[in-house]
Amino acid sequence: MPVDILTPQITVLDAGGQYCHLIARKVRDLGIYAEVAASETPASNLRGRKGIIISGGPASVYDPSSPTIDPALLTSGIPVLGICYGQQLMAHALGGLVQKGDRGEYGLAQLDISNSDTILNGIEGRQQVWMSHRDVVAQAPDGFDVLASTETCAIAAISSPSRRLFAVQFHPEVAHTPCGLTILKNFLFDACGCEKDWDPARQVESVEDHIRAVAGDRNVFFFVSGGVDSTVAYTLCLKALGPERVHGTYVDTGLMREGETEFVRHNFAAIGASSFQVADAKAQFLGALSTATDPEQKRHIIGEKFVDVQQQILESEHFLDANWILGQGTIYPDTIESGGTAKADLIKTHHNRVAGIQKLIDEGRIVEPLSSFYKDEVRAIGRQLGLAPELLDRHPFPGPGLAIRCLCSETSGTPKKTADGYIIPVRSVGVQGDSRTYRSVLAIEEFPATDDVAARLINKLDQVNRVVVAVWTKAPIDEMRVQPASLTANRIALLRRADAIVRKATEESGFDAFTWQNPVILIPFGCGNDRNSLVLRPIDSVDGMTASVVRMPEELLQSLTMQLQIEGIAGVFYDLTNKPPGTIEWE
Ligand code: XMP
Repeated sequence: MPVDILTPQITVLDAGGQYCHLIARKVRDLGIYAEVAASETPASNLRGRKGIIISGGPASVYDPSSPTIDPALLTSGIPVLGICYGQQLMAHALGGLVQKGDRGEYGLAQLDISNSDTILNGIEGRQQVWMSHRDVVAQAPDGFDVLASTETCAIAAISSPSRRLFAVQFHPEVAHTPCGLTILKNFLFDACGCEKDWDPARQVESVEDHIRAVAGDRNVFFFVSGGVDSTVAYTLCLKALGPERVHGTYVDTGLMREGETEFVRHNFAAIGASSFQVADAKAQFLGALSTATDPEQKRHIIGEKFVDVQQQILESEHFLDANWILGQGTIYPDTIESGGTAKADLIKTHHNRVAGIQKLIDEGRIVEPLSSFYKDEVRAIGRQLGLAPELLDRHPFPGPGLAIRCLCSETSGTPKKTADGYIIPVRSVGVQGDSRTYRSVLAIEEFPATDDVAARLINKLDQVNRVVVAVWTKAPIDEMRVQPASLTANRIALLRRADAIVRKATEESGFDAFTWQNPVILIPFGCGNDRNSLVLRPIDSVDGMTASVVRMPEELLQSLTMQLQIEGIAGVFYDLTNKPPGTIEWE
């Protein structure tokens, strides 16, 4: 793995900020290998770094449990750049004064530059920057110059060039700070003297060397999902060791989208994977799920089945013998505590519970060729390996598959008319504050003129966590019913068919390029023999942690709605709920 060979020039100390990984990514994009480490990392472990960046974070430096840094870093002579909370931490540690600002400053701000020294070199006058803070540095430490200010924040950038310490209150790493890249470049190349050493696409050879070194004369097996990470990791191993020594198993859960198994087969054939097999576990998964209704119960059953099926494969294929090691598509954010999404963790817990796999991990019989790369870098490597763009650029798809898009109900129920619309008693998962909600959905009859209507209605109505527009219904909404429904093969098949219709239309129209994900959800709300409805949920996101609704062009929506009027479907709805307060998946 390149991380073994290459010492990072820059370490980003993670003070809990959501942008910590973005900082490391930006540094890498500038051609410099950067790692992320815990903020408390001792200075002695960071010897040899050309520079340190302290990230932002939600805490207040006066809170005793807030993240800190080893103070020795600030006298080590290594250049340090503090960003947001990082600036406050630096000021606080060196005797400056940090206090709560009169008001917070969140979003765009105008930065007035009074001193274009070092990090602000080449940037003058008034610049747009992005701020997100309440605390401010009220007094810079002795020996520091104040370089810039905004209306709300008198000390927005400081430096002590002789000590090689620099800090900014705003976020140079985000796109809303147009001069941010120049600031990072100034820090990296001028203050730290970094030299370019990183191009993800050029890492392929060293990754292959690493795979050969770890494997020795052993073979590697993978459980592949068809997703980008496991496919790229698998392909790297194939290239490094040859197809005879690398085995891939794809578990067909019966919960995948239409054509998925063939897609995976086709892609693996194209990269010359001769020892690849599909394990047909459809009956096992669908059998266990047929009476499930509760979201957590569905997830639990799926997790258990993955464990059973993988254990059976490990044993029947003798993968636990000493001549095999496990390959995994773990990427960099998955390896650090602050990275990855909670949901990704959930799926991993299930995988990790496979006793056989846990044993391999404990014994170090594992190779993770992508563990120092970010997602975009993985895609760049994939392109270099000649993997198809349809594979590399596909929307993320959750491990439990269509099961979390096929909503169930234990009871029957009728919509309740309110002044704001109909409350339909189909419950879905949402997220408000830091907690999960499981509530009904409000259906309104027309697309509202403004975007914030869903949030307003959800804040107003305690019993709902989502708002949808009824685009088409076979009967008036108050004549439709929720009926008991579970995760049957028929309902999964109906959802799969609808999902394929939506996927085809959105791909062909080019609409897919505007969305990060485009789930289609089946809800048990219908009339007569057509007992279900569909919900369209096109969203945009960066990492799945937050998401905003994307509106489909009217013409596409109309044509799609016509195509979705298939047997068994009584309505088409459009989800208007951002995340938060909704989640992307309904579950
Ligand atoms: P939510 O629904 O929490 O989803 O807003 C955020 C992102 O995570 C995906 N997701 C999963 N991915 N295993 C996965 O690999 C899972 O169990 C899982 N659940 C949700 C979801 O599709 C979205 O991109």
